[in-house]
Amino acid sequence: MSSAPVTSAAPASTGAARRRIGVGLVGFGWLGQAHSRSLQRIPTLFPEREFDPELVVCSDAVPARVDEAVASFGYARGATDWRAVMDDAAVDVVFIAAPNMLHLELIEAAAAAGKHVFCEKPVGGTPEQTVRAERAARRAGVITGVGYNYRWAPLVRYAARLIEDGRLGEITNYRGRFFSTYGSDPLGLLSWRFLVDEGGYGVTSDLLSHSVDLAHMLIGPIARVAGTTATFIAKRPVALPGQGHYGRGAPGDPTGAVTNEDYAGMLCEFAGGARGTFEASRTMVGPESQMAFDAYGTRGAVGWNLERLNELQVYLAEDELHTGYRTVFGGDRFPYHGHFVPGSANGIGFEDLVAIEDYEFCRAIAQERPFAPGFGEAVEWVSVQAALLRSAQSGAWEDVVSLRED
Ligand SMILES: NC(=O)c1ccc[n+]([C@@H]2O[C@H](COP(=O)([O-])OP(=O)(O)OC[C@H]3O[C@@H](n4cnc5c(N)ncnc54)[C@H](O)[C@@H]3O)[C@@H](O)[C@H]2O)c1
Repeated sequence: MSSAPVTSAAPASTGAARRRIGVGLVGFGWLGQAHSRSLQRIPTLFPEREFDPELVVCSDAVPARVDEAVASFGYARGATDWRAVMDDAAVDVVFIAAPNMLHLELIEAAAAAGKHVFCEKPVGGTPEQTVRAERAARRAGVITGVGYNYRWAPLVRYAARLIEDGRLGEITNYRGRFFSTYGSDPLGLLSWRFLVDEGGYGVTSDLLSHSVDLAHMLIGPIARVAGTTATFIAKRPVALPGQGHYGRGAPGDPTGAVTNEDYAGMLCEFAGGARGTFEASRTMVGPESQMAFDAYGTRGAVGWNLERLNELQVYLAEDELHTGYRTVFGGDRFPYHGHFVPGSANGIGFEDLVAIEDYEFCRAIAQERPFAPGFGEAVEWVSVQAALLRSAQSGAWEDVVSLRED
């Protein structure tokens, strides 16, 4: 694979040739701050860039977060009303990192104002909202991006290359899972993620969306599914505005009902013939952040797990010793890795994937071309989600009916 070692980065384009990209951001929590740091770091990481991001205005419902965005992150302005972002003539692109059920209204406003939009996954809280969001952006002719950041992991891209080049033979089966521990403590706060009115669907939207999006990239579309969902922790301590899913309450605190699913499981058939299984959970104990996949082919297999972001498990039948899986360490011989650290087995981290996706998204804007994953890819995921939810109701296999309109 080609790589970009720090020591031999592509020649820097001149400042004069770079396009200024004015950024407005809505939702300055975990991911809003991650994108802000990433956009700020781009000039130090990607000397070959054709653009310079400028942090113009940040909006959050919590005033202290707005103050922090201006004081410490370098935004020129802050606002508690997100309309200030859409109305700002200096903003070219709106980054959306607010709770899911706000996505659609924000996207429709940004598109109406002619701004390009990067929205965190899953783009809306329901399949219907994702379809409407894609429609609004397409009709406005703006460029869209979605925060499916695991697509950008250097070793995931290497796995994609192994599959694409046929090194694993024909892929016969695939296993995707996202097991997160964030909801395993019953005293974990009832943040927006656990509420259908604020988060929309639960782990199908929050976690399984990542797993299936990655499978779409690696293996291709899914034709039909049999699915099941469950809620295991019915009540949680209520959260204050701005408190997230990593916060904890205390015994005796007032509680409220969890109104979306904690778990989803799915058996599926890919359009290309491979079979697959997927699971996502936010309440199990054991795995901590296992966003993971295994792809098995007639001549080899690969496995990757976010808990070991800098390792890829590879089995190649062409290896004459048949010594089992090999652990391949990350390093600057893989795409993007050398932009962060040189050499081999000097690891990169979660937020570096956000920096890569932000760099690639801004590059698409600078070049005035579509970006993937965009809202079209988000609709491909919710087409699967809709089939899974139908199957959980019917108890039968359900065909995936594409909701894409473009
Ligand atoms: N790609 C990933 O790996 C990843 C990881 C986590 C979250 N996400 C996505 O990012 C989005 C945000 O998740 P998070 O974990 O950062 O949540 P969070 O709870 O940490 O942050 C959400 C922020 O939105 C703010 N907010 C709420 N209502 C608002 C309004 N009306 N106007 C402006 N701000 C408002 C809150 O005050 C909070 O600061 C979600 O869509 C989530 O699915 C993606």
